[in-house]
Amino acid sequence: AEADAPAGPLAGRHVVVTSGGTREPLDPVRYLGNRSSGKQGHALAQVAAARGARVTLVTTATGLPVPAGVDVVPVETALELQDAVTSAAAGADAVVMAAAVADFRPAHVASAKIKKTHDDTAAGPDESAPVVELVRNPDVLAGLVAARGAAISPVVVGFAAETGDEHGSVLDHARAKLARKGCDLLVANEVGAGVAFGTDANTVHLLFGERAGRRTPADRQVGPAPKTEVAAAVWDAVQGL
Ligand code: CTP
Ligand code: CA
Repeated sequence: AEADAPAGPLAGRHVVVTSGGTREPLDPVRYLGNRSSGKQGHALAQVAAARGARVTLVTTATGLPVPAGVDVVPVETALELQDAVTSAAAGADAVVMAAAVADFRPAHVASAKIKKTHDDTAAGPDESAPVVELVRNPDVLAGLVAARGAAISPVVVGFAAETGDEHGSVLDHARAKLARKGCDLLVANEVGAGVAFGTDANTVHLLFGERAGRRTPADRQVGPAPKTEVAAAVWDAVQGL
């Protein structure tokens, strides 16, 4: 029996990883989605399993192979992801939110396919276009941080895909996001055309949040490196916490 017990720095730990991009349905055949490939999330799950953790991978349909020894919970929408993460996080040692969760979803999901020409009785050709109303999705990460108890509380890791803009650099936005979200670690990466999404390598900044009674490690940069190497650096940081 002892030979079967997992070894490694995460042996005996339960970790939850989210991966992929959520899809928010508009009608039975269409959805609002994003360009997340799931590669970084799946690499995180794979590395955690290799380090001996019990891994719950809450993921959208990415087409990627499921890493060996990982329990998969398939989800599609942000609301489904929230349900799955909330259940899996109870008693977990860490929750790593690598998924790209839609901030908004269509307010109404049409039960039948939305047609291009929706008024066949109109006199002339119908050239009008529908307006899609959106509502906010819950912030799953902020909800996890808010729900943490004093005794048992998982290390909570957020990801931030940022672009620089007139309001600040990638790091400026990431630091503000870390403060706003209140997570323990924020993995920030620069995105844009051809950068990060769908690629196998990644450059990220690890930004540490404050947590009572603990020294805050210094921020550090990882990469450009393969996503498995980035995943290893994230777990090193989580193990330190
Ligand atoms: N996240 C989440 N729930 C949401 C949106 C995001 O849990 N509804 C998580 C993501 O999984 C990620 C982190 O929050 O770990 C940061 O996501 P990001 O989209 O960068 O942050 P937002 O707060 O949504 O800010 P922005 O306006 O820049 O999109
Ligand atoms: Ca967002």
